[in-house]
Amino acid sequence: MAQKYLNFTVSESEGEQSLPILDGTLGPSAVDVQPLYNKHGLFTFDPGFRATASTKSAITFIDGDAGILLHRGYPIEELAEHSHFTEVAYLLMFGELPDAAELAKFEASLNMHNLLHEQVLSFYRGFRRDAHPMAVMVGVVGALSAFYHDVMDIQNPADRVHAAIRLIAKMPMIAAASYTYSIGRPQRYPLGKLDYSSNFLQMMFGRPTDEYQVDPVLGRAFDVILMLHADHEQNASTSTVRMAASSGANPFACIAAGIASLWGPAHGGANEAVLKMLTEIGSVENIPRAIARAKDKNDSYRLMGFGHRVYRNFDPRSRVIQAQAKKVLAHIGKDDPLLEVAVRLEEIALKDDYFVERKLYPNVDFYSGILLRAMGFPTNMFTAVFALGRTAGWVSHWLELQQESHGIDRPRQLYVGKTLRHYPTAPVRRTASK
Ligand code: SDX
Repeated sequence: MAQKYLNFTVSESEGEQSLPILDGTLGPSAVDVQPLYNKHGLFTFDPGFRATASTKSAITFIDGDAGILLHRGYPIEELAEHSHFTEVAYLLMFGELPDAAELAKFEASLNMHNLLHEQVLSFYRGFRRDAHPMAVMVGVVGALSAFYHDVMDIQNPADRVHAAIRLIAKMPMIAAASYTYSIGRPQRYPLGKLDYSSNFLQMMFGRPTDEYQVDPVLGRAFDVILMLHADHEQNASTSTVRMAASSGANPFACIAAGIASLWGPAHGGANEAVLKMLTEIGSVENIPRAIARAKDKNDSYRLMGFGHRVYRNFDPRSRVIQAQAKKVLAHIGKDDPLLEVAVRLEEIALKDDYFVERKLYPNVDFYSGILLRAMGFPTNMFTAVFALGRTAGWVSHWLELQQESHGIDRPRQLYVGKTLRHYPTAPVRRTASK
């Protein structure tokens, strides 16, 4: 197909210029603006990267208008129904679904590396008991870079895969320990006979003195949660990981940076914020007031779990999570009044012009808190669960970035500060103090 160009004029004297347009396999094409600065001394200006493709990637595709999410071409709905988290992690990392032997080998590697060095467990004691689990995870994952630095050559592809597997393998114990430490319960260890999700649940909820049986319905629901949170293109935390990785930083330090970025309430911290919002609303009667506040420009209040930088339609993940939440609540024979508030809030908001005009729909975080609460998770562990699933995506992007060579990510700026001025060296005439 003939090369397409974006034609433009910078000045009469220079006449018409053109920039090449790059086509991907799906989604919008991209204007290659690199010549803009090299040839014309111009930057692009795109705060928040609303229209900027920061990289090429083959891992995840999102069509925000159609509400489509593909991982290596497979729809998230099909993966959530037919696959399981470790298979999706393999798919994200290596690009293809594993055959039985490849999956068995991959899961055996995860089991081989799922323990934390005993000294790492002592790090937890440095935190206050009431430290937020995300603060603990940032600290502990960052500290792991001290354990796996000299033994890893990130120029060696095998070492890179090894580091990626270590990160996915150890995250369950790291996350579970951030909770058990806060309640003073001794940490259980992963059991070789259990699958990834069941292992996390028994480390999270099991006591070291008792057997812990994972309810298969809850185990499957949790595995679906991990799949739905595994990756999402160039979101803020993944871009943070890629930015850190572009300098050649230690992968554990890069993932710690991703955890820090995910914690924000505009990003992964929204699931915790949604539960707090639903709890504050409390009942269906209070929904109109919450909606009014969310629409009030003079009020910083937002409907947490609503809206998305990319989706201008339903987030396909939120439908799957809502169904799992209803299934788990029915299975445990519990009603959660907050589910009724959430469903009613969605119904009312989606009929309100403010939300309809701005294409604000429930996102992945809107129902995840209801499901996690039904499973017994404390609210402050919701984002830690998000980080557990997203580690698969973060390490996959880290691996992908190592294969391209655009060098360090170093954005420029539109400078609006003071122009050149000089330090006053002439003796300052001191006016007599009044
Ligand atoms: C995740 O990027 C990813 O892929 C993220 C994620 C992933 O898997 O990695 O999908 C996970 O982070 C999901 C998003 C979780 N965050 C929340 O639920 C927090 C609540 N949502 C918003 O803060 C907001 O919608 C964002 C941050 C998600 C998106 O913000 P944008 O794209 O910058 O949108 P915007 O702020 O420009 O809003 C456009 C308009 C504004 O109104 P106007 O100025 O046009 O009048 O919509 C309004 C906003 O005020 N708006 C909201 C709103 N979100 C946007 N109004 C009320 N409630 C909201 N939630």
